[in-house]
Amino acid sequence: MPDPAMLLDVAGLHATIDSKEILKGVDMRIPHGEIHALMGPNGSGKSTLAYALTGHPKYQITAGSATLKGTDLLPLTADLRAQLGVFLSFQHPTAIPGVTMVNFLRAAMRSQGKELSAREFLTRLTYEMAELKMDESFRSRYINDGFSGGEKKRAEILQMALLQPQLAILDEPDSGLDVDALRIVADGVRRAVEGSAGKMGVLLITHYNRILEYLRPDTVHIFSAGRVVASGGPSLAKEIEAMGYEGLLGEVAPVSASA
Ligand SMILES: Nc1ncnc2c1ncn2[C@@H]1O[C@H](COP(=O)(O)OP(=O)(O)OP(=O)(O)O)[C@@H](O)[C@H]1O
Ligand SMILES: [Mg+2]
Repeated sequence: MPDPAMLLDVAGLHATIDSKEILKGVDMRIPHGEIHALMGPNGSGKSTLAYALTGHPKYQITAGSATLKGTDLLPLTADLRAQLGVFLSFQHPTAIPGVTMVNFLRAAMRSQGKELSAREFLTRLTYEMAELKMDESFRSRYINDGFSGGEKKRAEILQMALLQPQLAILDEPDSGLDVDALRIVADGVRRAVEGSAGKMGVLLITHYNRILEYLRPDTVHIFSAGRVVASGGPSLAKEIEAMGYEGLLGEVAPVSASA
């Protein structure tokens, strides 16, 4: 039975794309206010889990359940899940030429019933951009258009900071970041969690222990061949770095090769 006291409760989740099964029975529970890391080999299905939870229409859920504070997410469209407070920062954010950051962010807040007056919005935006050390010129640039890899990741964290989701799923927010940017992004995530009065939870997909040293996750989950195969404390991430997935888990099959 899904636990309504849990922020996210995923049980036995299976998902397919183009009739190929990628998620093969995912179990994961994230309590309110916790940061959980999700690590695992390339192609093991981490981004697929992120898309399946946020309601990407390309993925068919074939079995299992996923609830947010006891509400069944699976029948809901991506828009409705976003309104409930599910946020995804993309592994590969896409550019939207013609849509400025400022207009996009305002529209995103409005669509989630979080509309502020123009003045309040600009005050918040200015504050969050300063915290993320983003130059104000980004406001009038088209989203992600010509942004460097690190700038795209900061823009995703800016969205998260403004939308204040219940559950932030961050798909490799640390990829391609220099050491200073890594700390800025990690601080942004930590600030959002602390600012939510213990409500917001984070599912942080990463390949590296470094961001976890800044964020000190409550739990680290290891994904392999479409499901969580181990969960533990932050030391698990260090063990992976030292031993590799094969060293820790034995032979690691890609999702496509597993039964
Ligand atoms: N549209 C698709 N058609 C066919 N296979 C797909 C499709 N999308 C994803 N897959 C496959 O699903 C598997 C899981 O992909 P996914 O992107 O979830 O992996 P990942 O764990 O996020 O990997 P990485 O660490 O490289 O980001 C891969 O084998 C991938 O090729
Ligand atoms: Mg991925």
